[in-house]
Amino acid sequence: MLRRWARGRFTVALSGGSTPRRLYELLATPATAARIEWSRVHVFWGDERCVPPAHSASNYRMAHEALLSHVPLPAENVHRIAGEDPPEAAAAAYEATLRAMFGGERTFDLVHLGMGEDGHTASLFPGSPALAEERRWVMAVHAAHVESPWRITLTPVAIERAAQVTMLVTGGAKAARVAEVIDGGGQGLPVQHLRGAVSWMIDAAAAAQLRRSV
Ligand code: 6PG
Repeated sequence: MLRRWARGRFTVALSGGSTPRRLYELLATPATAARIEWSRVHVFWGDERCVPPAHSASNYRMAHEALLSHVPLPAENVHRIAGEDPPEAAAAAYEATLRAMFGGERTFDLVHLGMGEDGHTASLFPGSPALAEERRWVMAVHAAHVESPWRITLTPVAIERAAQVTMLVTGGAKAARVAEVIDGGGQGLPVQHLRGAVSWMIDAAAAAQLRRSV
């Protein structure tokens, strides 16, 4: 994957939460990190909590601790969402960054996502108006029921314009939701709003209730 350099660079949007931490740590191990031309990698986020970068809930902080502080990625290649700013301003600034980086059509080489137990992804929660957005690539959203309720998120439009989308889901707590999405029972879950191909990476526990082999 990292050998495919569209436009001489590799642009990736990272997911937050807890699942990807181990993946980021593995990417930072010397043997793996040595195989990546970090000077040509640009790191973005699929979503961010509206908190400062040093806050324990910050997706940037988690990625910085697990990966970014261990690899020779140029600082200018890290495109952090300004969670410390007012949500609408942070969303507008991130949208401007993406438009300047990609122009008007395609977006990232890779968007790496996770899924919550309610079927949300990035910060696209059930019932969110961002799910129906057809123009903007970034929105500020408020989800009263979650940690750090104000969030900045990519919209489905921005995600599906990526060259590849991966979804990493682990743990038995998500097995019922995974089966609902993959086996086709679910209707209208946020992860089902993603038009286009999504490559699912599911561990045995999260796949335990799947009816068909994937
Ligand atoms: C976030 C993430 C979110 C995450 C899911 C799963 O900001 O929380 O981007 O979309 O991927 O909520 O979270 P866990 O990996 O912690 O289960």
